[in-house]
Amino acid sequence: MREYVETRVRAGVLEQGTVDVLCDSGVGARLKREGLQHQGIELRFDRSGHRIDFQELVGKSITVYAQQEVVKDLIAARLAYQAPIHFEAEAVRIENYESEPKIHYQRNGQSHVIACDFIAGCDGFHGICRSAVPPHKLQIHEKHYPFAWLGILAQTPPASQELIYTYHERGFALLSMRSPEISRLYLQCAPEEDIGRWSDERIWEELRTRMATQEGFVLKDGPILQKGITPMRGFVATPMQFGRLFLLGDAAHIVPPTGAKGLNLAVADVRVLTRGLVEFYKRGDREPLRQFSDRCLRRVWKCQRFSWWMTSMLHRFPDEDSFSHNIHHAELAYVASSRAASTTLAENYVGLPFDTPGLF
Ligand code: PHB
Repeated sequence: MREYVETRVRAGVLEQGTVDVLCDSGVGARLKREGLQHQGIELRFDRSGHRIDFQELVGKSITVYAQQEVVKDLIAARLAYQAPIHFEAEAVRIENYESEPKIHYQRNGQSHVIACDFIAGCDGFHGICRSAVPPHKLQIHEKHYPFAWLGILAQTPPASQELIYTYHERGFALLSMRSPEISRLYLQCAPEEDIGRWSDERIWEELRTRMATQEGFVLKDGPILQKGITPMRGFVATPMQFGRLFLLGDAAHIVPPTGAKGLNLAVADVRVLTRGLVEFYKRGDREPLRQFSDRCLRRVWKCQRFSWWMTSMLHRFPDEDSFSHNIHHAELAYVASSRAASTTLAENYVGLPFDTPGLF
């Protein structure tokens, strides 16, 4: 289990605010050393690239640092404090979350219980926390996108210093990275795509076709270390708190990956909860905890909107008629050429400001 969470390839882009939260929490040392700071991204369409310069437009940058590296740093920090972590423990049931919460879990074939003041439900989309809430108390807001991403991790130096988001008539393509030696690349594919139909050669060929430029962009291939399909959907469960149970990150919401918001949104939820818990334990003030859901959801919907917008702008929709196709194209051209529109993209991509200033 520890190995699984420390090695599973997931997101890779940290907003400046996420970096600040990690650094302020004392887990930023390796991130500062090894994270790759990017001052912008490239939008590519019609065989040409257009740089969106974050630093110039909004004075901020992003950091490329893999999610599983963040997870390693968090685990190491917790172990260094000699705070308990139960690996190989399967949470099976939540009890009495309104007044005296208990978490039941199984470990080595034995049942255990943790009695606690509050439960931070950070157990992902398929975890038990959200399903502990009776369905009639939850509102589900969902959007299905008619495509998915085929992602690869490849042992080849990234073909660009910055991320490249490409729109092509054959579909979206993204060049990202994990380190100066490892590239992470994605291709839009059908939601029910059979990965067995994608040989390594076919993947590289398709990436080259979609990312080709007039200037002769060169994408060198290399051994593919991992491949997988990422579904695309938007999902929000409201509210995000029930008595003493709080839902955070994917337990409460999923964004399509095009805006690189999933991990950052989870950290923003954690920030709100942490501040609420500090106020509660330091001053006995329950108000910030009571506001958890409203505070988080304001940001969740803004990020959901941005992710929806990036996804719509950069993907090829199966049913696009010529009118929609031309509007779509005009939008890309507008964003690439207008300072106002590029600033909108930059402002959201680097991360909107938190609605409360300062440290935790
Ligand atoms: C990634 O590097 O995995 C990545 C980067 C940007 C995205 C999505 C995924 O928008």
